[in-house]
Amino acid sequence: MNPVSLRSRGFFVTAGPTGGKIAMEYQDKEYYKIEGGVCLSGRVRVSGAKNAVLPMLAAVTLTRAECIIHHVPSLRDVQVMTQILRLLGVKVEMVEAGLNGGLTLVTQADSLTTHVIKDNLSRQMRSSIFLMGPLLGRLGEVRIAYPGGCAIGPRPIDLHLRGLAAMGARITEKHGYILAQAARLHGADIHLDFPSVGATENLIMAAATAEGVTTLRNVAKEPEIVDLQNFLSGMGVRIRGAGTDTIRVEGVGRLGGTEHTVIPDRIEAGTFMASAAFSGGEVRVENVVPEHVESISAKLREAGVTVQEGRNWISVKGPRKLKAVDVKTLPYPGFPTDMLPQMMAIMTTADGSSIITETIFEQRFSQAEELRRMGANIRIEGRTAVVKGVPGLTGAEVEASDLRSGAALVLAGLVAEGTSCVEGVYHIDRGYENLEGKLRGLGAAITREKMQGAANRLDSGQLD
Ligand code: UD1
Repeated sequence: MNPVSLRSRGFFVTAGPTGGKIAMEYQDKEYYKIEGGVCLSGRVRVSGAKNAVLPMLAAVTLTRAECIIHHVPSLRDVQVMTQILRLLGVKVEMVEAGLNGGLTLVTQADSLTTHVIKDNLSRQMRSSIFLMGPLLGRLGEVRIAYPGGCAIGPRPIDLHLRGLAAMGARITEKHGYILAQAARLHGADIHLDFPSVGATENLIMAAATAEGVTTLRNVAKEPEIVDLQNFLSGMGVRIRGAGTDTIRVEGVGRLGGTEHTVIPDRIEAGTFMASAAFSGGEVRVENVVPEHVESISAKLREAGVTVQEGRNWISVKGPRKLKAVDVKTLPYPGFPTDMLPQMMAIMTTADGSSIITETIFEQRFSQAEELRRMGANIRIEGRTAVVKGVPGLTGAEVEASDLRSGAALVLAGLVAEGTSCVEGVYHIDRGYENLEGKLRGLGAAITREKMQGAANRLDSGQLD
């Protein structure tokens, strides 16, 4: 087995003494056991947005002052980011904020001790790349290994690097590391080839302490970018335009602290909306910004779902049978790529055939093969999947290979006849806070189980 496939199966792969790779730890010891066929009903509260909090945790390194972030979801990605911050010398305190409140994080980066981000951590999480912009601004230097993340195809970082170079950074790439250096970044006029979410966020943070004005064009418009703008404004950055395709940032020499509450996670909200629609139940999703999930609501309505919304809630009532609809992912406000796997899952038993097209990432269909094991009829052609509705799914043992495909398999397990086991729960833990607990609150029969006889540690061996 090669290191890539090992990693996707939950092993940590690190360099061995002879330069080979040794599988150090078998993490993937838990799975979800689901008894399908329950019609979900009740209320569920959405946690803070993973994709909003991760760049904020990088932004705290821009200032020596204290930052307080409320409504932080308790997720594996947040833990990894916190670990990286601590290794950089940032003080991070985590306080349980009580029922439904997530965590409150108090950070202080008054004395950073290194510009090097440990590779075993950066490889675990693509979001470590967010630290490049802020650390360059703060320390004038940053070294990071090529970041990891979900196994959803090649994810280059050329837009991040080109933007930083335009702001005066010298970038050296060798032995799998990127070293970026700049005595002081300067403002620049930057046009992104593609509205990359991460590049937009990284460059905004780099511009925050750069000398002069940075204008970023063709930027991503996701709500998480607006949330980052609000966070940075609180620190004293002069920034405007988030939510439109042009953002202007005027660098400020010294930034202050801030206190901020993270926006609700629109993908978690969408996943619960999909679960209600799929199971033919009725669920009120609370702590959601309806505008942020507009494309999901519209698609569900088209599929015959009743969707009602209030100021910060959405109520979803599924029909007896969903109608097949076509879905194409696009940058916000288009249909989110992070909801494609869940949408594919709910189309497996719809009336008719749906064409699902992915335009953002190259590999977003890993759940298709597993759904087929549950009886789904899915044909993949390049970036398009044709899902032909079948009368019903049957429970099976399936394996998640990334975060959202994991969510899709859980949804399938909830409606399938009989028992399903979804392996690879650690992928789901990256981005869903207590998914099984929240689903149980809606009546689902789902439990987290330990794998019997799973090795804690593999015998050392050359894998390449
Ligand atoms: C973010 C989200 C992720 C979501 C994605 C798209 C976070 C932590 N993650 O990921 O959940 O699925 O947005 O909505 O916020 N690209 C390049 N060069 C670059 C950067 C990106 O070619 O330098 C390409 C990528 O390969 C991909 C596309 O642009 O095809 C979109 O990527 P991007 O918007 O950057 O996604 P992320 O920020 O990685």
